[in-house]
Amino acid sequence: MTEKIPAHYGGEPIREDVLGYGSQSIGENEKEAVVEALDGDYITRGPTVEAFEERVADFVGVDHAVATTSGTTALHLAGRAAGFGDGDEVITTPLTFASTAHAATYCGATPVFADIDPHLRSLDPEAVREQVTEDTKGIVPMHYAGQPADIEGLLEVADEHDLTVIWDACHAFGGRWNGEPIGAQRDMVMFSFHPVKNITTGEGGMIVTDDDELAERLRRLRSFDMDYTPEGHEEEPWYQVTEGLGYNYNVTDIQAALGLAQLDRLDDFKRRRDEIISQYDEAFANVVGIRTPPEPTESEPMYHLYAVEIGEGFGCDRTEFVNAMHAENLGVQVHYVPLHYHPYFREEFGYEQGDFPKAEAVYDGLVSLPLHAEMDDADVDDVTTAVEALQTYHTE
Ligand SMILES: Cc1ncc(COP(=O)(O)O)c(C=O)c1O
Repeated sequence: MTEKIPAHYGGEPIREDVLGYGSQSIGENEKEAVVEALDGDYITRGPTVEAFEERVADFVGVDHAVATTSGTTALHLAGRAAGFGDGDEVITTPLTFASTAHAATYCGATPVFADIDPHLRSLDPEAVREQVTEDTKGIVPMHYAGQPADIEGLLEVADEHDLTVIWDACHAFGGRWNGEPIGAQRDMVMFSFHPVKNITTGEGGMIVTDDDELAERLRRLRSFDMDYTPEGHEEEPWYQVTEGLGYNYNVTDIQAALGLAQLDRLDDFKRRRDEIISQYDEAFANVVGIRTPPEPTESEPMYHLYAVEIGEGFGCDRTEFVNAMHAENLGVQVHYVPLHYHPYFREEFGYEQGDFPKAEAVYDGLVSLPLHAEMDDADVDDVTTAVEALQTYHTE
């Protein structure tokens, strides 16, 4: 006899309100900071953006941070700054959000997928090595769920072939690898500050780098590729010229004020996320058929997602698991439908299902359970109870 009948099979949902898989946490300090910013001289990119950039650069231990309007535009700027263009190939993971590959596609380069290391769920350096051709210009690895990818192995491949590396660290802000913060790795590392990420500015992104020239290019491209003080026009203060195809990816002081206030809470966010992860790990240790996230070895991740794999022995497959959780009002999600399944990448670049068997096998079981700093112990309990009840229903 099971104590709780899963809602999917006729029982009562475990909760009335929906618990999302991710959520922002906005406190009074953030609200005050935003109101204060609105009273400032600038509400577009001004001194608060600069302060936010400096604080992030200090935090990750690099010389430059360039704020932009989203993780997606950060990838676009980074691809442009890296010089990706027509005829170039850029190697990336299929198990990611589409924007990761757009560091290449927005610039006219070809995204070349390589299979993943199923343990870390991110690019396998050996698979990357196999995809390198004379047209390969860069690599865009992604730190899946906040777990650092094989940074050492991937940098080795980049060194062998003189490739630019853009780390998609959208999930990984606040984490560390091998004693150094995520963000300190070459050539560029980018973050997203979307509301479900580790800190938020509403929408927003940031690129960090130690390379002076890349930083200069990123700043120029972010603002129309404009030279505001061109040589030979010193007597004409109005004379500003566009030197190339730039963008308006400027963030506002309002967003930066929110970002600074969120940074003050980063340690608390990490502590709470870690507590929830320990509670999940403990609850699922004896549940057959659930693979929990990898134990970190040389890293201290700040996990953005708690992504499990539903496998043999659980009692139902991933599709049924997701629908059963939704019936309980638990907003689980799947990260991600592999990019080579998407019409855009299939039609434009000729990929098809079957091309990356390891990414596909991981995808088949993947589910992200709710994880965010606003969750209390009762929320965590709802998730673990619902998962246990589902298994019991199927196996007893
Ligand atoms: C891995 C990854 N890359 C890129 C992005 C794009 O970031 P944004 O939503 O800030 O444009 C996201 C966010 O959804 C992401 O998860």
